[in-house]
Amino acid sequence: MKLTKIRLTRRGKMGFGLLLLLAMQQLRAESATDTGEIQASDFKCMLDMQAVRGFYVDNLDPDKRSDTAAVAERETGVYPVGSVVQLVPTEVMVKHPRGFNAATRDWEFFELTVSEAGTRIDKRGFVDVVNRFGGNCFGCHVKARPEFDMICETGHGCDPIPITPQMTQLLQKMDPRCAGPRYQPTQEELQLLKQLGG
Ligand code: HEC
Repeated sequence: MKLTKIRLTRRGKMGFGLLLLLAMQQLRAESATDTGEIQASDFKCMLDMQAVRGFYVDNLDPDKRSDTAAVAERETGVYPVGSVVQLVPTEVMVKHPRGFNAATRDWEFFELTVSEAGTRIDKRGFVDVVNRFGGNCFGCHVKARPEFDMICETGHGCDPIPITPQMTQLLQKMDPRCAGPRYQPTQEELQLLKQLGG
């Protein structure tokens, strides 16, 4: 009777120790992704990111790329710290550590200018970043239902954007930061670009 009691207690202690160890590892893993110093050079050719359905994902920490891709592929769930998400070359969302900005669920929104010379950050922030069409990033993305962690896609609850999948694919292919020969748009695609004002 007494023996059993001791064994249980020991097992309990071991369990507690293991939990503590796991918690510490988790903390270390969280703090390892440094999102405090995001700069233009952290953004690159969109096609070097991972394509998931219509958009592209990556992580500032190469070891966490697959964790980000897993959430994107599953469609629901909270994106890990350091996640980088893009639909077009000039707009980005980056995930900061939990608690960084409760309103945006720790996402920071970026509006970029991209060229062969690289990336320039024009605007960045949380609830107040407005894109070149006058739309507030947060204002739209906050309408995604909670299980989608502010990712809009289609059918997640956001207001639609006037850009068709054909247009976004074209903008992705034409990202001027990508290495190799520039993609040559067809006549029809040139018309699309004109409509976009590019
Ligand atoms: C009018 C509403 C609206 C505004 C304003 C807006 N977005 Fe979006 N955004 C969307 C919708 C809708 C999609 C999904 C489009 C699709 O998949 O066809 C999207 C897609 C995205 C994606 C790809 C992941 C996803 O959510 O599907 C990113 C990243 C993104 N937007 C960032 C931004 C940033 C950064 C800004 C501001 C600079 C911004 N958006 C402004 C509605 C908006």
